[in-house]
Amino acid sequence: MKERIQSLLEEIKGLNATHQEMVEKLRVKYLSKKGEIAVLFEEFRLLSPEEKREIGQLLNELKNAAQDKVAQLKASLTETGSRDETHDLTRTASPIEIGTRHPISLVKEEIIDIFSRIGFTVAEGPEIEDDWHVFGALNFPPEHPARDMQDTFFIEQNPDIVLRTHTSSVQIRVMKKQKPPIRMLFPGRVYRNEAISYRAHCFFHQVEGLYIDKDVSFADLKQDLMFFAKEMFGESTDIRLRPSYFPFTEPSAEMDISCNLCGGKGCPFCKYTGWVEILGCGMVDPNVLENCNIDSSVYTGYAFGMGIERITNLKYQIKDLRMFSENDVRFLEQFKSAY
Ligand code: PHE
Repeated sequence: MKERIQSLLEEIKGLNATHQEMVEKLRVKYLSKKGEIAVLFEEFRLLSPEEKREIGQLLNELKNAAQDKVAQLKASLTETGSRDETHDLTRTASPIEIGTRHPISLVKEEIIDIFSRIGFTVAEGPEIEDDWHVFGALNFPPEHPARDMQDTFFIEQNPDIVLRTHTSSVQIRVMKKQKPPIRMLFPGRVYRNEAISYRAHCFFHQVEGLYIDKDVSFADLKQDLMFFAKEMFGESTDIRLRPSYFPFTEPSAEMDISCNLCGGKGCPFCKYTGWVEILGCGMVDPNVLENCNIDSSVYTGYAFGMGIERITNLKYQIKDLRMFSENDVRFLEQFKSAY
């Protein structure tokens, strides 16, 4: 009997519980009327007086130990309600992983948002196009060397069906369908047959802008682009326009902004010029308007086209174009706070 009491004492000392129901079960097992300790007290009554003296003391110790243990477990659990990890209501919630939008989408939306404030709406066109929409109507004569400016992918060796090399094709689709005034943006993916490197890819994204109405002038173009540059890159941004050539605009220009890394002082990024190029633009060539049945003696307009990767590059200093299409979450995840 002595040994049974001893081993029960050890057992009770080692008891543990993770919630209140368990404590109650332990109390019933050891301390209830039919519990293990009560059984021992039954047997105790049959002992001789000498044995009773010794065992009685031990039994009382055991009962006290069991009562203390149950009280102690009860108390420790009421502090937190439960020590069960899966049901700990006081534990801080685990963070919810939210997805991120792709930097190209973020910047595209930002460009659209800025121009929408000065009245531009959005339209899209197909990526597989015919020669007329991509080149012909845009004043690229057949065999004209300007077609070589953009290395074209052809579909199934058919020289008439191409992957569009620029979003200017959407200008044509819209002007064919809609009468001026037109003030629209055409965002989308374009394709060029270029070797993939950190600075060139066989597909990228552009946003085209088109404004056709009576009396649209180069001054409108300049003002609107300046508004865009300052909204996108900050109030202190300067712009400059350099003469350029596109078959579909006359006059044509390329627009630079003051280098947003060094503020125009000169650094390796802007090759110490203080300027970085961001887009091509110009007044819509009258031939293009006529090709779309818009009277060029009544209407004038401007157009511009920019690469979204280029703008994203400048805004977030992403040096390698390939990162945009590699879907590396370590890269993409960094744009969580960007919207
Ligand atoms: N389509 C030209 C390009 O892809 C950009 C451009 C658009 C230039 C509209 C002038 C006007 O390079």
